[in-house]
Amino acid sequence: MCGIVGYIGKNNTKQILLDGLKELEYRGYDSAGIAVLQNGKFSSYKAIGKLVNLKEKTSDFITEGFAVGIGHTRWATHGKPTELNAHPHIGESSYVVHNGIIENYAKLKKELMSSGVSFLSQTDTEVIVHQFEKNIKSSTNAFEAFSKTIKELDGAYAILLTTISEPDTIFFAKHGSPMLFGRNKDGEKYFASSDTPLMGQASEVNYFEDGDYGYVNESEIFIFDKNKNKKDAIYKKISQNKLSAQKDGYRFFMEKEIYEQSSVISDTLMGRLNDEEIVFDELDENFFEGINEIKLCACGTSYHSALSASYLFERYAKIRTSVEIASEFRYREPMMQKDTLFIVISQSGETADTLETLKMAKKAGLRTLVICNVDNSSMVRLADATILTRAGIEKGVASTKAFATQVTIFWMMSLYIARIKNTLASKEIARQISLLREVPASVKVSDEMHEKLKRLSKRYLHGHGFFFIGRDIFFPLALEGALKLKEISYLHAEGYPSGEMKHGPIALADPELFTIALLPEHLHYEKSKSNVEELSARDATICAISSKEFDKADDFIAISKCKDYMLEFFEMMVVVQILSLEISIRLGNDVDMPRNLAKSVTVE
Ligand code: M6R
Repeated sequence: MCGIVGYIGKNNTKQILLDGLKELEYRGYDSAGIAVLQNGKFSSYKAIGKLVNLKEKTSDFITEGFAVGIGHTRWATHGKPTELNAHPHIGESSYVVHNGIIENYAKLKKELMSSGVSFLSQTDTEVIVHQFEKNIKSSTNAFEAFSKTIKELDGAYAILLTTISEPDTIFFAKHGSPMLFGRNKDGEKYFASSDTPLMGQASEVNYFEDGDYGYVNESEIFIFDKNKNKKDAIYKKISQNKLSAQKDGYRFFMEKEIYEQSSVISDTLMGRLNDEEIVFDELDENFFEGINEIKLCACGTSYHSALSASYLFERYAKIRTSVEIASEFRYREPMMQKDTLFIVISQSGETADTLETLKMAKKAGLRTLVICNVDNSSMVRLADATILTRAGIEKGVASTKAFATQVTIFWMMSLYIARIKNTLASKEIARQISLLREVPASVKVSDEMHEKLKRLSKRYLHGHGFFFIGRDIFFPLALEGALKLKEISYLHAEGYPSGEMKHGPIALADPELFTIALLPEHLHYEKSKSNVEELSARDATICAISSKEFDKADDFIAISKCKDYMLEFFEMMVVVQILSLEISIRLGNDVDMPRNLAKSVTVE
């Protein structure tokens, strides 16, 4: 999704903007650009494709002394990924960058065009800068024109605008898309879509609320809320540790993040387990009082972890649980009962569809909880309560450690509710807590396993599709395995319940149909095995993952003998992640930034 950076200060503005955009690469983009206002003159550069192209274009451009700059990585929504459509967009004497969607842009564009304004791009964003320049003609100053402009926009946005008449100022507005402001003791000012570009630059940051707008100049910041009331910035310290955001010698962030799962799960568990019960300091003692049902809502990988939760919640906590895809839920006029706890799950905390469902649930008066990886994200700020997954920064577009920590939280939460509702014997809760302590070890990647998957991957680069199959909680894992593979290999893959294959998909069975079969020894083994045998009998190519030898498999990946199906779940999760990674690498794809995808989907 688009990324924004801004800078006011005396350092090397060009480099600060390019470095900031580099930190936002993980969000996904197809073009990039910067505009710098220095000594009363604008310079702007844009390039399609990777940032290296923009770097090349700006190689002769030097910034020295005080300057104001804005930069942007664009993920196309309106108009193709071309240089003309890349941001910043120019008016007569101003530049704008924008993340989000201006829903009424067509109407504004028509009005502007009928008054003689010409447009260079096909984007919705360009209307902002022209509307601002139209308003400036009837305003006493640039800020008045900017405020008027913001009020005329419908949709979601994070906007930065600079104009020649205010050469030390950046105007900003935030509504529905993320943006924060940072500063340091040298008086430098920064804007960005997320924390990462500001680490090592700013010492403290202010997270804007929806509806905030205002301006920052060399000496001060003015923030106004949606009701035009002036408000103070609320500064928080920002971590300066960038090391965790680097690749640490791994080929890809995704690979590094798979290997990190053991340590981040330890962090997820830290302080939350004692011998007999789960402790969530974040939750009020009475948080579950009066709750008779749980509704989970999310997108993509987070939706898969929510599906896993539904098995655990009903099995252990005996609480009615339903799971919703956020983009569907928000438009289907759903029934919402006050005794339902509404849980949203999101790595980023910014996914537009999920955020919207959280707003709906709040409006309907439901108690809300977010399971999230990013503190201070929009969802965290909105929900009644938050449980942070503590996975650390996840840069690979294909989510791995976020999923692992989400499922860990859900397993803990099912035991937490089971104790409150008295649906599991204390001895069983204690047994499962001791199993939870084994998860960090169960997701450790052995060299032997990785080597085996690397070798195996060369046999799965063609064919007419993959089916990942599993039963019970292994069905969401099958869905997640298929999503991982399709995201980064661009091969067709589906997740399916093993028992459902005979109701249609088995018609596809032939040697070119690859079935990745999840066969946990401790959960419905015999049933799952017969489903795989049915496929094997019809000549499908079977790659079985199990701790039990399976002679009908063409390829067999052995996981270790585990005490419980949940430990098998975590071991198999690592196997499907690495298999996808190795297939993608063999196909020569960009593992961390797969085509057409964005890390944080902040538009619907
Ligand atoms: O940040 P979120 O967890 O809300 O993101 C939801 C999905 O966009 C995300 O999980 C997506 O499916 C990933 N690319 C999966 O690898």
